[in-house]
Amino acid sequence: MRLLILNGPNLNMLGIREPDIYGRETYATLCEKIEAHAKEIGIEVEIYQSNHEGDLVDKIQQAYYDFDGIVINPAAYTHTSVAILDAVKAVGKPCVEVHISDVSAREDFRQISYVRLTVELTITGHGIDGYLEAMDFLKGEILNQ
Ligand code: DQA
Repeated sequence: MRLLILNGPNLNMLGIREPDIYGRETYATLCEKIEAHAKEIGIEVEIYQSNHEGDLVDKIQQAYYDFDGIVINPAAYTHTSVAILDAVKAVGKPCVEVHISDVSAREDFRQISYVRLTVELTITGHGIDGYLEAMDFLKGEILNQ
């Protein structure tokens, strides 16, 4: 089983960016934890981050051929991107939306999520652990398909 783990803009700045909101763990640590968890639960992952909407759309489209499911933190594109929503719908693979912070307790403009219209599950405010929970969930979903 292969999962695509996608991260949107500014998530490469984890550890530096607004640590009171996103914590002090770096993007490298996030990747290490995802890789270690994948090994533990016996799945393969590819982790990809981009600051560009079109790159994220291209990568989601690749999931049609190469992946069984998607974990996505679209970051700011969560709140703006119909293109990302359409791409996830187009490939039709199980998808979990993850946010490190509790977006429900933040600004009004963060209350809209386009991708949420098509995902199986949304996990917010669990920090980096949210990605690992999303992997566990998708493994269960895909095995039960
Ligand atoms: C985020 C929340 C978004 O509102 C924000 O734009 C991000 C990160 C999160 O992981 O909490 O960049 O997706």
